[in-house]
Amino acid sequence: MSVTPGGSRYSLDAFRHEALGETTSTNTECLARARLGDPGHLWITADRQTAGRGRRGRAWTSETGNLYASLLLIDAAPPELLGSLPLAVSLAVYGALRCVLPLTAEPLEIKWPNDVLIGRKKSCGILLESEGLADGRRAVVLGIGINIRHRPDDAPYGVTSLQEQGCHISADELFSYLFREMAEVLEAWDEGRAVKLVTARWRDAACGIGQPIRVNLPDRSIDGRFAGIDDQGLLILDTGDRVMSIAAGDVFYL
Ligand code: BTN
Repeated sequence: MSVTPGGSRYSLDAFRHEALGETTSTNTECLARARLGDPGHLWITADRQTAGRGRRGRAWTSETGNLYASLLLIDAAPPELLGSLPLAVSLAVYGALRCVLPLTAEPLEIKWPNDVLIGRKKSCGILLESEGLADGRRAVVLGIGINIRHRPDDAPYGVTSLQEQGCHISADELFSYLFREMAEVLEAWDEGRAVKLVTARWRDAACGIGQPIRVNLPDRSIDGRFAGIDDQGLLILDTGDRVMSIAAGDVFYL
């Protein structure tokens, strides 16, 4: 993989940024650029999205005032090393929020795998999307929405905004922190080779290790004690009868 002259693959000047007023979805825009041959390391932000996407096909409400940002990476890592990327992305968001939240804010933590919580309430959404391109390259888009001024009223889980936490920052200023933190974390991630470093940093920010949780899988729910994550980033659930490693699921604190 190529290295930027004068810097590493993830030095700050290796990234470009395009700021849009309105778009359907910054993730959609990044994927469209990838199909047109963009070399990657491209951030796209928008003031407002008209068709913001959340996980599991849900819509992501995207009024002006919050941050909507997506980073396009091309051939970010060998496919077998991409598994820890969601954890790395959550660390970048966590790092950016740690820089801007006042001391009076509630605790900042990460819920497995990549929900950044403030006071156990969701403060942002992260949506990773990947696509094989016609020329054989693989595009990965890291989509990030952070509640600055708005938060949904109808969410089935607790939600908060930075404003509610006493942080009155503009989307542009918050993006400058995210831009820097993401470059630092991706550099540390080392194209997936430094998974142990990333999982160690993630554990330091983790919410609820040792506590009872429910994990919703596609076909069932399992209750147990959140015993942490292993060195590959899998969730370790101790049900009392056995210790399970879980690769994907929704976690709820009990
Ligand atoms: C979630 O459901 O928790 C993930 C939400 C991800 C929203 C962000 S906003 C920027 C980017 N563009 C999108 O359409 N979605 C992501």
